[in-house]
Amino acid sequence: MNPLETPSFPSRLPQVGTTIFTTMSALAAEHQAINLGQGFPDFPCDRKLIAKVNAAMLADCNQYSPMAGVAELRDGISQKIETLYGHHYDPDTEITITAGGTQAIFTAILSCVSPGDEVIIIEPAFDCYRPAIDLAGGKTIAISLQVVRDESGQVAAYEIPWDLLANAINSKTRLVLINTPHNPTGMI
Ligand SMILES: Cc1ncc(COP(=O)(O)O)c(C=O)c1O
Repeated sequence: MNPLETPSFPSRLPQVGTTIFTTMSALAAEHQAINLGQGFPDFPCDRKLIAKVNAAMLADCNQYSPMAGVAELRDGISQKIETLYGHHYDPDTEITITAGGTQAIFTAILSCVSPGDEVIIIEPAFDCYRPAIDLAGGKTIAISLQVVRDESGQVAAYEIPWDLLANAINSKTRLVLINTPHNPTGMI
């Protein structure tokens, strides 16, 4: 083989196509519609944040942080959670900084799930759960949210069918992924 030729490897996630976000954003652009499919901040970054990041860079804060994240940041997050939700998480043993939610979810799933383990997800589910479970060699067990309608037939709520969830749990179940507030329904 020509050493400059790029070898082609089979994808480990052949079933992952174009994400729903790309599809909806393209449709919104095509129809000049308001794009509710993806969060696009329509306000500028707070100038105070830019100044603080700039000051930190000028102060040469450019080293690797500790694995779990900078202690002041973990303390601040712990205090914020306590103020907002009245629950204390230990900043040293229960809080880890990640580069966003997707990395946190991938890391948690890859750390916990071994080949053959089952992971229960509630669908519709955020689109990074299944690929992470697949890469870990796990099996996704999907349970659909139940639509609850009022007397006029309008959708009033979405509920987890607890009996189906309970029946799905067995000795192979390793994780149950709960997303609250739920995306895309917003249900708590
Ligand atoms: C339910 C849910 N999980 C994960 C993510 C991904 O988070 P991030 O953009 O921080 O990777 C999002 C983002 O909107 C989300 O709504």
